[in-house]
Amino acid sequence: MTTPTISPNLLYLSRSDLIALGGGHSQPYVDAIVDGLAAHVRGEYVQPLKPYLRWPGADHIADRIIAMPCYLGGEQAMAGLKWIGSRQHNPARFGLERASALVVLNDAQTNYPVAIMEGGLISGMRTAAITAVATRHLARRGFTDVAAIGCGPIARMQMQTLLEQFPSIERLHVFDLSSSAADAFITALAGRFQKVVFVQTASAEAAVRAADVVVTCTVADAPYLRYDWLKPGSFLSNVSIMDVHKEVYEKADKVVVDDWEQSNREKKIINQLVLEGRFSRERLHAELGEIVVGRRPGRENDDEIILLNPMGMALDDIVCARHFYHLAHERGIGTQLPLYG
Ligand SMILES: NC(=O)c1ccc[n+]([C@@H]2O[C@H](COP(=O)([O-])OP(=O)(O)OC[C@H]3O[C@@H](n4cnc5c(N)ncnc54)[C@H](O)[C@@H]3O)[C@@H](O)[C@H]2O)c1
Repeated sequence: MTTPTISPNLLYLSRSDLIALGGGHSQPYVDAIVDGLAAHVRGEYVQPLKPYLRWPGADHIADRIIAMPCYLGGEQAMAGLKWIGSRQHNPARFGLERASALVVLNDAQTNYPVAIMEGGLISGMRTAAITAVATRHLARRGFTDVAAIGCGPIARMQMQTLLEQFPSIERLHVFDLSSSAADAFITALAGRFQKVVFVQTASAEAAVRAADVVVTCTVADAPYLRYDWLKPGSFLSNVSIMDVHKEVYEKADKVVVDDWEQSNREKKIINQLVLEGRFSRERLHAELGEIVVGRRPGRENDDEIILLNPMGMALDDIVCARHFYHLAHERGIGTQLPLYG
């Protein structure tokens, strides 16, 4: 086999490279996600439905590897893939984060891979940025109380991002089935956000009842969160997707998703509701991008209860990864790897 005279390089970015590029803070992700959601509304993307790879013996809902490809058009067109593995037992059995990921970026002219980067940080922070961008449009102005249900790494990134983006927050109400997880979560955030009061509640219900903004970050496989727990005027970002009873989708004043096609599948709650004839595309208020670009209204009064179902899109990962790829080139950060050796 002949080897071409040009040996392409790949840029490798580890988690610490991403942090050196500002990836430990929410702002770059929020900016990238606003751009990404606008591209979503313009239809400047191709995003096949993501396959879930599962196998016998790994039977928890959080045991899987998901392949998430996306082409993102526009001036800086690029394609890419997030390949994200998850085993529910990783924290307890191996002391590892539940999820691990790589993002591969491909040049859209040659389709060659041009970068590989650690994807767990990008994945968690882009998910938090989605909540933050949605909160800007869907939460009551000047809200003060936030609830986190589930206290793993995703909750930490969600709360860090909200605290960085919304200085009006005064109290965080946190609940986890594991009180040691809740303790560790509070310890991790309290040092950085010293003016915020952290309240560890005895139940998910107590945290939800106290909050204006609620974020679910569990690995629950059955719903527990009921409509009558939600305060009038609250905004619920259902990040972990399976936590919220079906009645919340039926009774909320507005239900918003990131992408309808991605949400209405895999027997997730919206898909179950659609199959039961209890929800439909017509009853959906909007996709989030439509609100962000002003095509659909966000919150319209202080009493509405609004539910966001953010399934998570490959587009979110690729738009953030693309930002760090360009910045790494500008700043000379990362490791060049020869593709052919
Ligand atoms: N929508 C998206 O785009 C998106 C993106 C990334 C992650 N997620 C989801 O976020 C969730 C959390 O991820 P993680 O990495 O932090 O997981 P993790 O397993 O590390 O942490 C989950 C925490 O939730 C707690 N918990 C489990 N069930 C609970 C319940 N019923 N009530 C209260 N606490 C409960 C666990 O004790 C644990 O501390 C996962 O479900 C993951 O799929 C969603």
